[in-house]
Amino acid sequence: MSRRIVITSGPTREWVDPIRFVSNPSSGKVGLALARAARKRGHQVTLIIGASVRPTRISGVESIRVETVEDMLEACRRVVGEADILIMAAAPGDFRPVQRQSQKIKTLARMNRIRWRRNPDILKILGRTKKSGQVFIGFALETEDVLEGARRKLRSKLLDAIVANTPASFADDRITTTVLLTDGREYSWPNLLKTTFADQLIRLTESL
Ligand code: CTP
Repeated sequence: MSRRIVITSGPTREWVDPIRFVSNPSSGKVGLALARAARKRGHQVTLIIGASVRPTRISGVESIRVETVEDMLEACRRVVGEADILIMAAAPGDFRPVQRQSQKIKTLARMNRIRWRRNPDILKILGRTKKSGQVFIGFALETEDVLEGARRKLRSKLLDAIVANTPASFADDRITTTVLLTDGREYSWPNLLKTTFADQLIRLTESL
């Protein structure tokens, strides 16, 4: 059965001044692979893609380009109401400067005075208006206590499943993950090509 699937992908970018931004090394490969896999299986796909350098046109997929976490939240809000499935594979940055400086920061003293604020947690916000029957899937990027961190996020973000992974797969063509479902099932998927991982995750999602 064809479903409406929203997939987020890639890093966000928060500008500090006209020449500097804060971001992360997410390549967006997993999100793109998920979009391709979902399309191939006949689903209607909207891909919300962050500040990635990759080409983002996929035939038959609606792509929305965003830059900051606020942009990504706004884009998600616009489309999630109509979606059956949300897969939040993006790596939104956790912090942004309170204010973007209009001129280049030239001294360390001024650089040290930058104040930071937390970005909104997109999944948590969208979770508040989740409709019955909708399936939300998140990713947990952890550098330690990987499965505990993923289990905590599965509960706190009101998800149906979460994909635990580490930064080892950044920019790589392969990914090692453990998929945790709310019903207690856990699948260990070591060292898969991102394309294979994407196909398996879409098939699993179809069964939820
Ligand atoms: N996420 C989100 N909004 C954010 C940050 C993350 O929706 N501002 C989503 C990610 O897309 C991912 C999940 O939340 O699906 C977990 O992201 P992760 O970076 O592992 O964790 P954080 O929620 O940022 O928590 P922490 O920094 O404490 O590990």
